[in-house]
Amino acid sequence: DDMDKLEYRPPVLTIMGHVDHGKTTLLDYIRKSKVAASEAGGITQGIGAYKVQVPIDGKPQTCVFLDTPGHEAFGAMRARGARVTDIAVIVVAADDGIRPQTNEAIAHAKSAGVPIIVAINKIDKDGANPDRVMQDLSSIGLMPEEWGGDIPMVKISALKGENVDDLLETIMLVAELQDLKANPHRNAKGTVIEAGLDKSMGPVATFIVQNGTLKRGDVVVCGEAFGKVRALFDDKGKRVDEAGPSMPVQVIGLNNVPLAGDEFDVVGSLDVAREKAESRAEY
Ligand code: GTP
Ligand code: NA
Ligand code: MG
Repeated sequence: DDMDKLEYRPPVLTIMGHVDHGKTTLLDYIRKSKVAASEAGGITQGIGAYKVQVPIDGKPQTCVFLDTPGHEAFGAMRARGARVTDIAVIVVAADDGIRPQTNEAIAHAKSAGVPIIVAINKIDKDGANPDRVMQDLSSIGLMPEEWGGDIPMVKISALKGENVDDLLETIMLVAELQDLKANPHRNAKGTVIEAGLDKSMGPVATFIVQNGTLKRGDVVVCGEAFGKVRALFDDKGKRVDEAGPSMPVQVIGLNNVPLAGDEFDVVGSLDVAREKAESRAEY
């Protein structure tokens, strides 16, 4: 039966917080990449999804990070990120403190019912006041573990990498307590986190697989869009044949651009997919 087939799946972590508090810089440090430097105006404008190998006690462990924009215009993306995640990592710059999108991010995490970890960032800066941040967070109901509460808070410098190892260990400890499982042997289902139209490839969607395994050749229906999966690309743009639980994957082969936030399902045939998609389009 289905319960027998449940297996460990990697955690999905969403990084949220006010604009420019250092979310992408933190991921750059973890991934040894330089995404932040290449962003137009230094502003993240979409959800990025990355598979990362985190060394815990010398052993590499897989996790998936979603980077979200902090600009106030992108609240829907933060909400979407919170809905598909296992843990919310809230980044607060220690020289700037709690700002409107910090509060918004906390509210999204709470309404999604996911545990919160706070990364108090930019501790290398003049004017950084991490204790003040902890005080302000406790006054809005997030009591630091350090002070007897239940919210882990780690003081870091994303730019210099200071204490990022501690943050990753904390993340993996919280993830372990969640006992994350899925059945990789069934048809895939999950959520569309980004979608758009590519000039040469047509509709392209980024999925997070939440259960099952998505395979090339599968027929998917998401919202009013459907199609046979013609190609799958991993987070590094490499062609893959399948994507298992928790994995982000880019999908080519849909007839239309689905809406970000739509759920996707694998169905038996293109006829079934068309029927499902069309019945939704009628509403
Ligand atoms: P949005 O995605 O646009 O909301 O911004 P973000 O939260 O991803 O912040 P980003 O990584 O773009 O960093 C904003 C600025 O803060 C950049 O100039 C970073 O170099 C700087 N920064 C990030 N982390 C640190 C840090 O730990 N210390 C210092 N000194 N600067 C940092
Ligand atoms: Na930024
Ligand atoms: Mg960013």
